[in-house]
Amino acid sequence: MLQAKTALITGASSGIGAAIAEKLAASGVKVILVARRLDRLEALAQKIQDQYQTPVFIAEGDMRQSEAMPQILHSLPKLFREIDILVNSAGLAAGLDPIITADIEDWEQMIDTNFKGLVYVTRAVLPLMQARGSGHIINVSSLAGHRAYPGGSVYCATKAAVTSFTRALKLECQGLNIRVTDIAPGMVETEFSAVRFKGDAGLAKKVYANLIPLSAEDVADAMHYALTRPAHMTISEMVIVANDQAIQLV
Ligand SMILES: NC(=O)c1ccc[n+]([C@@H]2O[C@H](COP(=O)([O-])OP(=O)(O)OC[C@H]3O[C@@H](n4cnc5c(N)ncnc54)[C@H](OP(=O)(O)O)[C@@H]3O)[C@@H](O)[C@H]2O)c1
Repeated sequence: MLQAKTALITGASSGIGAAIAEKLAASGVKVILVARRLDRLEALAQKIQDQYQTPVFIAEGDMRQSEAMPQILHSLPKLFREIDILVNSAGLAAGLDPIITADIEDWEQMIDTNFKGLVYVTRAVLPLMQARGSGHIINVSSLAGHRAYPGGSVYCATKAAVTSFTRALKLECQGLNIRVTDIAPGMVETEFSAVRFKGDAGLAKKVYANLIPLSAEDVADAMHYALTRPAHMTISEMVIVANDQAIQLV
């Protein structure tokens, strides 16, 4: 039962984060939308309020800053303070270059956002869930964390780190009534590739040529499924791929 719960979603200005925000709002969940692009958050908040009349709070923040989430939590109006669901979706791939020529700043951005940022956010929100004796954390990892590819060295490593962190988190949450889910999507058509190729729309489009990729809504559906299982049950890890990207994991 999701109605009247509260969810905090990072990476809510685009793609998977925006899709799960909308899906949860449609189910009556109060949503806290977090990202750096405030104009995007404002537009999504307006859409949610118009379509679902669900309370929305938006917060601008760069998840690479360890103080960003504590500050956001501190600024929450009373209505949004009891966070039931945390979706860690903020993340990116930057570049697709071999290790020898890759840009070190790209590496740092991915490590700081995908891994360190997710860890900071989790660390900030978890005590609130622990104090209330309930919660559900969904971390967006990636198929790339299970299957590395050339040019993806650091991106893949950050996502493997997310999955590993999430496994330990799940064990630490045992007995606390806090569920933990790792969702590892394959190729999803969002702004992901445009970001990876720094706005080169041609290169981004090529990634999804000749196949039907997942949509952000497909991933949001999977998250919704995990969030609506009976209280005694956890969807621990999900690997989701488009049929055209079938891959063997073992
Ligand atoms: N698309 C795929 O094929 C795919 C596959 C597997 C996993 N994933 C993962 O899914 C997650 C969502 O990606 P997406 O496909 O939805 O891409 P997207 O459309 O580019 O969305 C990425 C989101 O992350 C936010 N973000 C990036 N850096 C941030 C920072 N420093 N602080 C706060 N927010 C930040 C962006 O917001 P702002 O720019 O406004 O801050 C945006 O809302 C990522 O973790 C990605 O690695 C994607």
